[in-house]
Amino acid sequence: MKTEAVPFEKQIFVCTNDMKGEKVCCGDQNGPAIFRALRNIAKQRGLHPRIRVAQATCLGYCGQGCNVMVYPDNVWHTQVTEEDVEFLAKTYLSID
Ligand code: FES
Repeated sequence: MKTEAVPFEKQIFVCTNDMKGEKVCCGDQNGPAIFRALRNIAKQRGLHPRIRVAQATCLGYCGQGCNVMVYPDNVWHTQVTEEDVEFLAKTYLSID
């Protein structure tokens, strides 16, 4: 095993899990679209991969999706919709 410091300034985990109709999931709550939108903004602003927007495959809170978890801010957003992308970008992907 090799151990080193986290190589990212911030990580934004967006749950995109698709349970194929077996259970309520973030995949049914536009998780993939929210992930793509945030990832594109991070790339457009030149923040990726210093600030990494990553897909998560179930954060264990499926009924509250879409779930977005941010480190090191230690913040968990539930019931995120595509309308929230602008707020999330302003909050976590600001280059000011
Ligand atoms: S499917 Fe997103 S938290 Fe489980």
